[in-house]
Amino acid sequence: MNWGLENRLSKIFRPDTGRTVMLAVDHGYFLGPTSGLEKPAVTLEPLLEYANALMLTRGVLRKCVLPEKAPPIVLRVSGGTSILTELSHEGLTVDIEDAIRLNVSAITLSIFVGAKGERESLLNLAKLVDLGEKYGIPVLAVTAVGKDMVRDARYLGLACRIASEIGAHFVKTYYCDGFEKIVENTPVPIVIAGGKKVSETEALELAANAIKAGASGVDMGRNIFQSESPQAMIKAVNAVVHDGVDAQKAYQIYESNR
Ligand code: R5P
Repeated sequence: MNWGLENRLSKIFRPDTGRTVMLAVDHGYFLGPTSGLEKPAVTLEPLLEYANALMLTRGVLRKCVLPEKAPPIVLRVSGGTSILTELSHEGLTVDIEDAIRLNVSAITLSIFVGAKGERESLLNLAKLVDLGEKYGIPVLAVTAVGKDMVRDARYLGLACRIASEIGAHFVKTYYCDGFEKIVENTPVPIVIAGGKKVSETEALELAANAIKAGASGVDMGRNIFQSESPQAMIKAVNAVVHDGVDAQKAYQIYESNR
């Protein structure tokens, strides 16, 4: 057993439920100052205690999160492209020694199956998995980033399976019809992204459906930090993920906390 790697995973996935509520705030690494994240420290302050893990870049981590307040960190270590160019040609942007210095619980990159940068992104994943295994740091592969990607079960199933075959320790993807099949065919835990902002009801339904279909949690960003009441929303998402409440009950929790 890779003890360090398992130990770090157990910081992200709550051992009592086996699930996680990750808060994703890494959008700026290719989108710039995303709405709701203009001042990350202000956005994050009321949310940190409700996040089982925080997904972000080292720049925002260093400047906007106090070490004593930080939940387990899932560090974005890929980038080098922006929304203005071909996103899929990402490279690795953080040396493993810096990830270790930052005491991260996992490292993460995007893979671009079916895009121009498919090969380089998958080889980057392989390189990160080798480093992760060497130093005991789990690797999260993020699939299907980019507005042109078709997000159906066939495509997402392909991307998740490839990521797990290369050795990703967990995978982040989108919820879709037929999600159960993706979970069945991916031999590592899957967390779902929230995607673009929708109503609180819809976002909670998405999370509840994903959990019911076998997701091991969420890695949600915009549907939390762009909510009218981000703290109420992350509490409601926690109830879905860890207590297994349905979307209707979760919405009541949202309403009673706003
Ligand atoms: C995309 O590459 C980033 O990893 C985002 O963190 C991700 O899309 C999750 O955020 P959201 O729930 O806003 O889709």
